[in-house]
Amino acid sequence: MSDAVTFSVTGDIAHIQIANPPVNALGHAVRDGLVKAVEAFEASDAKIAIVHGDGRCFSAGADIKEFGKPPVSPWLPEVVDRLESCSKPLVAALHGTTLGGGFEVALGCHYRCAVPEGVVGLPEVKLGLLPGAGGTQRSPRLAGVQAALDLMVSGKPIPAGKAAKVGLVDRVVDGDLLEAAEAYARELLESGAGPRRVSDMSIDAPEAGFFDEYSKAVAKKTRGLEAPQRIIECVKAAVNKPFADGMEVERSQFMECMASDQSAALRHVFAAQREAAKIADIPADTAHRSIKHVGIVGAGTMGGGIAMCFANTGFKVTLIDMNTEGLDRGLGIIRKNYEISAKKGRFTEEQVASALGAINGSTQYADLADCDMVIEAVFEDLDLKKKVFGELDNICKSGAILATNTSYQDVNAIAAATSRPGDVVGTHFFSPANVMKLLEVVRADKTADDVIATVMAVGKKIGKVPVLSGVCYGFIGNRMLTGYFREAQKMLMEGATPEKIDSVMENWGMAMGPLAVCDLAGLDVGYRARQSRDKELGITSPKMPGDELVEAGRLGQKSGAGFYSYDPETRRRIPDAEVVEKIHAMGKERGIEQRDIEDQEIIERCIYPLVNEGARILAEGIAQRPGDIDIVYLYGYGFPAHRGGPMFYAKQQGIDEVAAAIGKYRNRFGEDEWPQADLAVIG
Ligand code: 3HC
Ligand code: NAI
Repeated sequence: MSDAVTFSVTGDIAHIQIANPPVNALGHAVRDGLVKAVEAFEASDAKIAIVHGDGRCFSAGADIKEFGKPPVSPWLPEVVDRLESCSKPLVAALHGTTLGGGFEVALGCHYRCAVPEGVVGLPEVKLGLLPGAGGTQRSPRLAGVQAALDLMVSGKPIPAGKAAKVGLVDRVVDGDLLEAAEAYARELLESGAGPRRVSDMSIDAPEAGFFDEYSKAVAKKTRGLEAPQRIIECVKAAVNKPFADGMEVERSQFMECMASDQSAALRHVFAAQREAAKIADIPADTAHRSIKHVGIVGAGTMGGGIAMCFANTGFKVTLIDMNTEGLDRGLGIIRKNYEISAKKGRFTEEQVASALGAINGSTQYADLADCDMVIEAVFEDLDLKKKVFGELDNICKSGAILATNTSYQDVNAIAAATSRPGDVVGTHFFSPANVMKLLEVVRADKTADDVIATVMAVGKKIGKVPVLSGVCYGFIGNRMLTGYFREAQKMLMEGATPEKIDSVMENWGMAMGPLAVCDLAGLDVGYRARQSRDKELGITSPKMPGDELVEAGRLGQKSGAGFYSYDPETRRRIPDAEVVEKIHAMGKERGIEQRDIEDQEIIERCIYPLVNEGARILAEGIAQRPGDIDIVYLYGYGFPAHRGGPMFYAKQQGIDEVAAAIGKYRNRFGEDEWPQADLAVIG
């Protein structure tokens, strides 16, 4: 055998154990070991074997690190077939996560039991793939077409109990897994049960037209994604063809997915997200500060959302505002948000009560004295923030982490307002803070390593995806956004309409087009940010269409109108001819030629400023790696995961091609808007 799979026999029962930490991924050593273990079992006197995983789970599936390398035999589908063809019965005993190829191994076994806390799933679609070791053929045979499709198309793992209900698991067992699995195995032996092969089972065909309808519904939900449609093709084959032919369809669809740009992008995202958690110059074993009690200063939009994140995940929270009115308003909104979540079934009544119970409101800074970490979320004003930090310096206990949620201000200047700059860090949450996954962790010049390590870990604990950023205007995400919004607004002055630009970008994959985003965030936010930036730099930047709208009282969704008008009931955007006319007139006044703008130009002028600024951010060392920037855009700005993020997208387009296009826009619009950047840093 190999170290990765062990085989042992006690009396009638054999044990085949997968031992490949951390998640028992099915790399070559495991695949080879499983085949050899089946052979050893067949040659032994044991009558039944239990297949299980060592450590935290049964198996997280194929070894993602082997993807892209030449496959080495035995392939996973061969391994699963070998398990299934075993002449004596195999029982899979599942705990932790049993995912992808790991679950396909379990489906190759003849019986499956699982602990109630276990989850099973076929999440390949999230990597732009489909189950490629028989999962598309075996799961509908056990669970029926609809349940199997739902599992594979969503990629969402399900608890063992639900899997048992649909037939994917035979038995949910309490207590010690191996003891329970042995008892189950003995029962099977006593009842004379032999190998029960899923590939021999029949499938009930769904009603006529089912697949067409399912496919249409999925296409609508998964805009532009290829793998979900390929999964449907495979299940259709499972229904209409013999097992072996269905497996061939699965194989060819799997290989096409594996070779696709979408899968390359999604696999990049998987790796980049895990990489982003690592700080190159801070050892992984750096001791963390203990954080149990978190203070939040400012009970506004962000402070309230941040309080919810911590209260939801077991932290004690003290939320303060400058007066009772501000505090009561903030607490009222928090309560309302929880009520809505409870109504939607996202939280139980008990969870809501416990979260609300964890938040203490106050108007006294002195109540922050006991906090392990304080996050400031007051108005975006440097002098005010400095004053708040001076106050925190006086009040907070030694060792407390002092964090600012500023979007643009200089974290070094804020840190300098205290006597302990090593304890000061930026924690830039995104709105709505209780929903958005991104957390930019801003490292100032003097921030201590253990503060960064602690904040990265706390971020993960509250369900965020933390990404490290250096100090600069707007950090990684908002700094890159400047060009994105500028080009979108300039194209309006060149003759485009908001709905044209937004629909092109939404069809390309952005969750929301740039102008709809401006309306949602409030046009006054950008207006004020630009004004204060102008003041700081002593310049007067030219007015953009959004500025004109603000001055006409159109602040975006909150005032019922911005680049679009909004239906007061449904909040749906309605194109507004008057706005379009006004902006086109603005363009004409400036002598800008009016024209139809091709979709490709819209995409390039929105995305390439992100790429260009991203390259500058990398060159300056503000972001650790290109993948970190991609993660910022995916989790903070609705960038489509199947395009991998702006940096990965540029690589897929070809760095030279992108550099040439940027050069073309630089010649057209000037160096100020399209500054020089060496795209080679993207890799
Ligand atoms: N292959 C290789 N490495 C894997 C892996 C896999 N399938 N799954 C996780 N890992 C690695 C991670 O990269 C990470 O490595 P690192 O410590 O070096 O960064 C380590 O295991 C721990 O992973 P997480 O940090 O993600 O740990 P969590 O506890 O947060 O999550 C998990 C565990 C739920 C298993 C999560 O890692 C996960 O979702 N993994 C991917 C599962 C998946 O997509 N499986 C399908 C693979 S494709 C397939 O099977 C094709 C087949 O159908 C032919
Ligand atoms: P907000 O205006 O909704 O809330 C600010 C709150 O701070 C108000 O309740 C106010 O009463 C309180 N406050 C002001 N001075 C105070 C003081 N001295 N002591 C205690 N409380 C005080 O502002 P918002 O939108 O929540 O923004 C807060 C911070 O978060 C800003 O720095 C902003 O740039 C940043 N941010 C905002 C995002 C957004 O989308 N709104 C996104 C990410 C960051």
